[in-house]
Amino acid sequence: MDLKQEILKLKEKLDVTIVAHYYQHDSVFELADIVGDSLELAKKSMETQTEFIVFCGVGFMGQSVKILAPEKRVLMPKIACCAMARMIESESFLEAVKYLNDAGIPNEKILPITYINSNASVKAEVGKMGGMVCTSSNAEKIITKALKENKKILFVPDRCLGENIAKKMGLKSTVVGRRDDPKDADIICFNGFCSVHQLFSVEDIEFFRNKYPGIKIISHPECTVEVCDESDFVGSTSQIIKYIDALDPEQKIAVATEFNLVNRLRDKNTYVLSATKPVCPTMNETGLQELYDVLKSIDDNDIQNEVLVDEETTKWAKIALERMFEI
Ligand code: 13P
Ligand code: SF4
Repeated sequence: MDLKQEILKLKEKLDVTIVAHYYQHDSVFELADIVGDSLELAKKSMETQTEFIVFCGVGFMGQSVKILAPEKRVLMPKIACCAMARMIESESFLEAVKYLNDAGIPNEKILPITYINSNASVKAEVGKMGGMVCTSSNAEKIITKALKENKKILFVPDRCLGENIAKKMGLKSTVVGRRDDPKDADIICFNGFCSVHQLFSVEDIEFFRNKYPGIKIISHPECTVEVCDESDFVGSTSQIIKYIDALDPEQKIAVATEFNLVNRLRDKNTYVLSATKPVCPTMNETGLQELYDVLKSIDDNDIQNEVLVDEETTKWAKIALERMFEI
């Protein structure tokens, strides 16, 4: 069976939109109706007209679409949870809040912000406390707005994104559980991280700068502060694509983000900033077989892998997501 042809036939027949994140494998990515980074996909999926959305990405992305458009039936070829999102649940979020309370910061003085890479239950807790969601594209804007409330920002789950934005904005950051007093910081980050973006190092940057003088180093803000500090450009997935598009094609670049994206952009002057192939394992659990199976389940009226979020969680997580869209 030619899986690609079978998928194309089912796509034609069914009332479905196939959505794929930039980190998906090329074989899946090329079959999508909509592609983008996490912010673009959340927005564009909401506007689709089809009954079914088949979301090729990681769990929190499918959940976000379901929360924003509960009337849609969202299916995922593989409900794989982003490793960073898995580092925090509502219980550990509430423990982080308690850590701040114990340090003398009451709830009224805490404004939580969760990176979109978190489960619906965490978004809901954030929503209940008056907080909001951000993505790597808009984190600076969201934090700028949040600071106006004159509260301490509890940033979850990505420590690196929180620290990078704090540094860029000249703010003081610390990490939940560290010995220093959280009252002295503007942003208190939960200690989560992306294992893929931790693969890049300052030594990698030194290697490429020595080998190709004049090379530009481009990083995603999930990389460490040390790597981002040494980079020529730091941006979200779509900001990286835009930045590279505007460069002289002869400009050599080394990019610190997920392999599938960099490989797609790749020409003779583009390098992956790592000796280890930085593939996101969960993103890459979706292949043609999984995509075919989920489409076939719609055709057979035996729906598989549907994303479901309970009403109460949807209500609060939606509030947190909508606060982001308002900004
Ligand atoms: P973007 O928000 O840039 O799409 O990033 C999502 C992600 O998971 C990066 O690792
Ligand atoms: Fe999560 Fe990292 Fe994969 Fe992005 S690259 S989906 S943050 S594990």
